[in-house]
Amino acid sequence: MSDNKNANQTPDTGHSWDDGALRELLNEPPGWWKLGMWVSLAWVLVYFILYPSIPLATDFTKGVMGWTAIKEYKADLKEVEELRAPYEAKIKKMSASAILADSELSSYVEKSGKVLFGDRCAACHGSGGAGNPGFPVLADDDWLYGGDINTIEASITDGREGGMPAFGGSLSAQQLDDVTQFVIGLAQGTKHAAGAAVFEEQGCSGCHGEDAKGVTFMGSANLTDGIYRFTPGTAESVKYTIAHGVNDGSDPETRNAVMPSFADKLTETEIKKLAVYVYKLGGGQ
Ligand code: HEC
Ligand code: HEC
Repeated sequence: MSDNKNANQTPDTGHSWDDGALRELLNEPPGWWKLGMWVSLAWVLVYFILYPSIPLATDFTKGVMGWTAIKEYKADLKEVEELRAPYEAKIKKMSASAILADSELSSYVEKSGKVLFGDRCAACHGSGGAGNPGFPVLADDDWLYGGDINTIEASITDGREGGMPAFGGSLSAQQLDDVTQFVIGLAQGTKHAAGAAVFEEQGCSGCHGEDAKGVTFMGSANLTDGIYRFTPGTAESVKYTIAHGVNDGSDPETRNAVMPSFADKLTETEIKKLAVYVYKLGGGQ
């Protein structure tokens, strides 16, 4: 610093440049800096005495407090499990519908059901049961097999596999178009007489019902509500379903719709939790 009048008297390191115009001086570091250093050093020592700190070849220095992150985690976990234990014991003995009727238990169960759903179901049904192409929406009140709590529990336990034969081989192109227009018209309130005749003759009503509203025991979709199980619900995609069927092994282009059974993959308690969670997604029914 050229404006420092004492610079000439200050001892230097012997390093100089520019014929002595620039010298490296031997100044003491400032007091605040030294204080900071001593305080940090003291803190390191205190920490070293109290806490695990230095990794050794197969072990580590333990510290006098005996604290470890894993011990703290285990203690926290034990606390949570103790809080949960009475609930879990009750749930184990109760049916899903009884849990649902108990507002405290059902809101407890709903939370763990949500986590299970994210792990085991969301890959197919979408997060929060919002559905995915080919996988039904669970967060509405439109059900293939039924939305009461016992039916939902059965769907999860046993799995589901709806079956509809492919009609591509048995219908003429005209008949296929007619029945497609008839189905599309059902939701829109328009009538298609030729298509209605095909629907009757081909036995569609035998599975979907005379009113085409679907039969829950076989999971045949309601065709009148404008909610399509196989999206998008355009004439083209409806026609595809009719032509290739659902899970029809004889048609390589058939729609696949297999809900796996979870009887061996989840405990009964977990299935009950999921049933309550899914039931509540649809707002009941
Ligand atoms: C591999 C994909 C897949 C997984 C994983 C899966 N599902 Fe499904 N689920 C389906 C399919 C496909 C259907 C429709 C079956 C059909 O159309 O016959 C279905 C149907 C259902 C139904 C009946 C819906 C109705 O409208 O009646 C329920 C309830 C259900 N799943 C719940 C679950 C729950 C809860 C889980 C997680 C434990 C789960 N699913 C995991 C594919 C899956
Ligand atoms: C053997 C019973 C059966 C017969 C016969 C049958 N269906 Fe189906 N159909 C089903 C089932 C079951 C499903 C639902 C499959 C699933 O989602 O797993 C279905 C689904 C559909 C769908 C898809 C609905 C959606 O929401 O995407 C359409 C469209 C349809 N059927 C139309 C017809 C027509 C038209 C005929 C007659 C030409 C017919 N079905 C005959 C059982 C049948």
